Amino acid sequence: MKARNLFVVISVLLCALVFIWAYYVIYALLAFLVIGPLIYLGIHDILQRKQSIKRNFPVVGRLRYIFEAIRPGIYQYFIESDTEGTPISRNDRMVVYRRAKEQIDTTPFGTQLNVYADGYEWMSHSMKPVDFNKMDQNPRVLFGGDRCKQPYNMSVLNVSAMSFGSLSQNAIEALNGGAKIGGFAHNTGEGGISPYHLKQGGDLVWQIGTGYFGSSTEDGKSSAETFKISAALPSVKMIEIKLSQGAKPGHGGILPAVKNTPEIAAIRQVTPGTTIFSPPCHNAFSTPVELIKFIEQLRELSDGKPVGFKLCVGIKSEFLSICKAMHQLNSYPDFITIDGAEGGTGAAPPEFSNFVGMPLLDSVAFVDNALRGFGIRDQTKIIASGKVFTGFHILRVMALGADTCNSARAMMMALGCIQALQCNRNTCPTGVATQNPALFKGLVVNDKKQRVANFHKHTVESFVELLSATGIDHIGKISRDHIYKRVQMDSIKSYEEIFPTVEDRSFLNEDLAPAEYRWHLKQASAEEFSDL
Ligand SMILES: Cc1cc2nc3c(=O)[nH]c(=O)nc-3n(C[C@H](O)[C@H](O)[C@H](O)COP(=O)(O)O)c2cc1C
Repeated sequence: MKARNLFVVISVLLCALVFIWAYYVIYALLAFLVIGPLIYLGIHDILQRKQSIKRNFPVVGRLRYIFEAIRPGIYQYFIESDTEGTPISRNDRMVVYRRAKEQIDTTPFGTQLNVYADGYEWMSHSMKPVDFNKMDQNPRVLFGGDRCKQPYNMSVLNVSAMSFGSLSQNAIEALNGGAKIGGFAHNTGEGGISPYHLKQGGDLVWQIGTGYFGSSTEDGKSSAETFKISAALPSVKMIEIKLSQGAKPGHGGILPAVKNTPEIAAIRQVTPGTTIFSPPCHNAFSTPVELIKFIEQLRELSDGKPVGFKLCVGIKSEFLSICKAMHQLNSYPDFITIDGAEGGTGAAPPEFSNFVGMPLLDSVAFVDNALRGFGIRDQTKIIASGKVFTGFHILRVMALGADTCNSARAMMMALGCIQALQCNRNTCPTGVATQNPALFKGLVVNDKKQRVANFHKHTVESFVELLSATGIDHIGKISRDHIYKRVQMDSIKSYEEIFPTVEDRSFLNEDLAPAEYRWHLKQASAEEFSDL
């Protein structure tokens, strides 16, 4: 018998039984308090037309939706191992939580990692480590140098771009408060500068996305006048033009309608309650030369603050086109932020998150090589972001060429994020990635800002400890020879062997450039992005 018919038969029989019973004991009618709602749900399931599983299996079909809803929690708490868990493994999450709460962060009994598995990586230590206490325990890197009137001395670890809109006002304020306590930088994200970015007085990197929120004319074009006002704010230390991000390169930002409150809409000058899609590309420039000139213009309008751009590497020749433009104009961004395809987001189409853009390690090596190849490596700094959670993660991207790092999701975890994976639904239970006041009021700014600062402090400390173990006393001396990877069960290679460093200026004669770059260099043009 079909489940639907069975439901009807059982319902009729149950009702008949209760009536017969009630003939003798009137209180038997109370049974309808239980079976009444079940019969109602079943009839509703049969009559609705959207979910066939509920139509075919009234009432019991609902279990499927209940199990789907509780599955992530059950999996995370009871099933996943310490080294599993996506996007961020339990081990990485626990390190962040412990450092943020200043709990014991050592581990007992040895590594849980399989050191013979393909992909396992390690750092080579020295017989003659440097005394940790003699090391600079808060290493910083100067951005902007002589070219800027207001250069910025940046920490090696900073808060990556996350807008007010994707994050709650309390989360933004706590991140900025943490940055203030720890002396590091907090990137605003592409949603513009809100009062919550300014209240605590932490250093800001102001990000300008394709929507030009906070720096545009009414019709969405970049505006020099509005730009100047925000760029002059003392908290704004650097300006970052966002070309793309690793989790959705080529897509443009998405602010879901449920998170677009009247306050956020006013800051972005958009209609509240609607989903805001930022365009996939900028309208202020359309060629590599124009991008470099736009950077020059913003540096001037900001009275000499460092200006750079963020991208996830895509078509290689397009990045080389930007290098050609820099070389041709003898003009350089003060920094380039490289976001790996493994980077996080508040909301993105899964195809873009899963299958578009170059992963971080490959792209840092590529960009570092490209700048070296054009002989301009010393003109610009590289910031790397994408799953930077620990001191080792900082060290390995620096070995490949990064000068500093940004982290988004680790900072969210320091705020209390539990990887509930609800950033795109406005239901974040920890109040980090929601605009629902009932939820974000649970996030206490004064408590969480200290945790963000603690996480930063202890992670940088662990990075410096690793440096001292390699026997080098300065971040500039880390090289690709310091990191090894098991590429197969019986073969290990250093990063230098996997990603060979190119000769300085070796790209200037395209015919003599290393073979794997030659074709891309020939496609590259300072006058246009690739039309491959
Ligand atoms: C909730 C959330 C919001 C984000 N918003 C922005 C943004 O406004 N602009 C941007 O360039 N990147 C944004 N990102 C990407 C991060 O800045 C960063 O590039 C990426 O998450 C790096 O990976 P990580 O989370 O592993 O550190 C966002 C990421 C998250 C998790």
